[in-house]
Amino acid sequence: MCKMAFIAAMFCIAPIVAFADGRTDYNAHCAGCHGAHGNVQTEKAKALHMDVRKLALNVSKKNKSEVIAVIRSGKGKMPGYAGELTGEQISLIADYVIALRKK
Ligand code: HEC
Repeated sequence: MCKMAFIAAMFCIAPIVAFADGRTDYNAHCAGCHGAHGNVQTEKAKALHMDVRKLALNVSKKNKSEVIAVIRSGKGKMPGYAGELTGEQISLIADYVIALRKK
């Protein structure tokens, strides 16, 4: 019985680990301001009177280490995430943001 439950649990957990990419964290922490595709059409961006051109991550020219620096420390009205997200999460989010540009 116990063994079966263990195997069932492995099947439930494994896909979550396998798909832990930057997208989940991006959607949870960033999409509210930057939009689901980094292209900014959000109400929040308008409500905060943000410069929507700066928010459009898909036109950002920053390289990966610069993107990581912004995520860690924040910029302007954007909060920093160094205390909230691990280095690995931030690195995955940076990859995801950079991948958004190619779409
Ligand atoms: C509260 C709204 C808000 C949230 C949440 C937010 N940002 Fe930002 N972000 C901004 C604003 C505003 C700027 C522009 C700052 C400036 O240049 O004055 C910005 C700038 C950036 C830049 C720099 C773009 C460039 O080309 O200069 C990157 C990269 C970025 N954000 C990524 C992220 C990521 C990744 C997350 C999630 C971990 C995130 N942001 C969460 C508001 C937000």
